[in-house]
Amino acid sequence: MTILKFSGEVAGFYQRYRRGYPADVVDTLAAEFGLTAEDTALDLGCGTGQLTLPLAARTRAAIGMDPEPDMLAEARKAAAGVANVAWLVGADSDVPALEAVLGKEKLGVVTIGQALHWMDHETLFPALRPLLRPGGGVAVITNGAPMWLHDSPWSNALREYLAGWLGKPLVRTCGAEQEEQDRYRASLAAAGFTTGEKVVEYEDEITLEYLVGAVYSAMPEDLLPNPDERAGFEERLGVAVAPHAPFVEPVRVRLLTGGKG
Ligand SMILES: C[S@@+](CC[C@H](N)C(=O)[O-])C[C@H]1O[C@@H](n2cnc3c(N)ncnc32)[C@H](O)[C@@H]1O
Repeated sequence: MTILKFSGEVAGFYQRYRRGYPADVVDTLAAEFGLTAEDTALDLGCGTGQLTLPLAARTRAAIGMDPEPDMLAEARKAAAGVANVAWLVGADSDVPALEAVLGKEKLGVVTIGQALHWMDHETLFPALRPLLRPGGGVAVITNGAPMWLHDSPWSNALREYLAGWLGKPLVRTCGAEQEEQDRYRASLAAAGFTTGEKVVEYEDEITLEYLVGAVYSAMPEDLLPNPDERAGFEERLGVAVAPHAPFVEPVRVRLLTGGKG
């Protein structure tokens, strides 16, 4: 299966420039599901392992599963020297097969970071239940809003620049995100999970290089500026946002939790 959006060069940008998760997020998961060094974690839609690796550091073992081989190749490189992670090529539709693979071994947590919108949550959540130990659960995690959708002068300038580049406006998706979260929550509850929500908030000051890299990491490969156009793209982007430095980004990590009980 090929998912163009995260293939090729984009995977490398994702690994280098996509923000990871602070320790507070893993602490929150550990407290919510009583995670210990005996537990196994599954990070579904793991991408380049931003969440898989901190989870592996807190558990006996972690499985990072993703259908995009290029993302997993970057994850493997980032995990050099880490012995308790397995990277599996697979999608949400492969989850039911894990029940037989895991056998009596039950998972303490299944995390889905910034990836549930690619999955069929209504079939996924019931399929996850038998994989979890009592007291364990699922966490659907949103790692802040896209950096061009904040209400700040540098973010407004970035949004305007990108809209000019793409030839279409970049719309605010906050309302839809809340609707999505409500749908996910109802679907978790329908699958028998006890739902809750936790939030981890902080501010991150980013450099212009990081800002450009994060923009590239969010573009499908066919929309990336051609290599010979990049210097110009980056220079014009810099001119647009530089007057509004420093680039301080508010990051609001939302964890929608579903406890197995
Ligand atoms: C935005 S990235 C998130 C990566 C990482 N979890 C994070 O929080 O940064 C979304 C990932 O979901 C993966 N994905 C897309 N469709 C999927 C599916 N049906 N099942 C599992 N993962 C999927 C993509 O390949 C991509 O690596």
